[in-house]
Amino acid sequence: MLEAQLEELRRTTLARFASAFSQENLEEARVEALGRKGTLAQISKEFGKLPPEQRASLGKLLNSVKQDLESEYEAKKHKFEQEQLAARLEREWLDVTLPAPGVRPGSLHPITQIQAEIEDLFTSLGFAVLDGPEVETEEHNFDALNIPPTHPARDMQDTFWLTNGHLLRTHTSPVQVRGMRALGPPLRMIAPGRVFRNEEVDASHEHTFYQLEGMMVDRNVSVANLIYFMKTLLSGIFHRDVVVRLRPGYFPFVEPGFELDIQCLICGGSGCAVCKQSGWVELMPCGLVHPNVLRSGGIDPDEWSGFAFGLGLTRMAMMRYGIDDIRQMQGGDLRFLTQF
Ligand code: PHE
Repeated sequence: MLEAQLEELRRTTLARFASAFSQENLEEARVEALGRKGTLAQISKEFGKLPPEQRASLGKLLNSVKQDLESEYEAKKHKFEQEQLAARLEREWLDVTLPAPGVRPGSLHPITQIQAEIEDLFTSLGFAVLDGPEVETEEHNFDALNIPPTHPARDMQDTFWLTNGHLLRTHTSPVQVRGMRALGPPLRMIAPGRVFRNEEVDASHEHTFYQLEGMMVDRNVSVANLIYFMKTLLSGIFHRDVVVRLRPGYFPFVEPGFELDIQCLICGGSGCAVCKQSGWVELMPCGLVHPNVLRSGGIDPDEWSGFAFGLGLTRMAMMRYGIDDIRQMQGGDLRFLTQF
């Protein structure tokens, strides 16, 4: 009776293993035949109830059926695994000797390049390179720079105010204040960095751009010193003669204040979108540091004087490389960036 059941189990299970079409399907067949509650387990239970003399021969059969089924199951399982591996190797092969596609060297952003050059130039002249926060206090950005609360530069249109009363710095000049307070006189510093203005964006206006602030405080610093350093700077940057003009300019933190213009390098002075058809580009406001500013930096204006300038790094890079739309500078377009 049990013998017939065992032979039947062997026959049907081997057939099912042989025809199994997937690993799951094979596994189902195994559980039914060999699982803890499977057919073989039930037969074994009956087998345990038999008298000892019947067990001996049947026990052999039971073991041989079990071994047959297990080894056939293992063989079939192995076959499935091999097939899977082969399919995967076929799918995922990779020729590691091929050259990688699209690898190209990176490049420095034009602003980064020009900033590095100017930093080199000024460090060789004994200037320190300072850094300041982009989120500033009203005091550093305005009050300490002799910009009274009624000044139009404080207008909501120009400044990004934060809800906590701080602001995004509108220029790098607050680093003048930080520099004076941290280092004291005599002082030579530049401060490159990102600045923000609440501007309508067009070909020549961005809400985010880069400036480089410069300041020198010493005894008897005069306009002659200022002009010398500005000339050194411009010839160092452009590697050629540029036509410049100085106009009086008003900034609350300098007195006297100047506006240094250069003839537009894009159109050569004939007029284009960048120079707003004027032929000239305002490049560098500058002047002698206002006594009030020295005072708020903790420096005695009767003993010390200084000059300061604010250079538009973004605009400088546009001039240098002939870029006629400021929106390119922060656009992140690789077709633009890889040209430099
Ligand atoms: N901070 C001024 C600006 O952003 C520029 C400036 C700097 C002017 C230093 C004079 C001296 O417009």
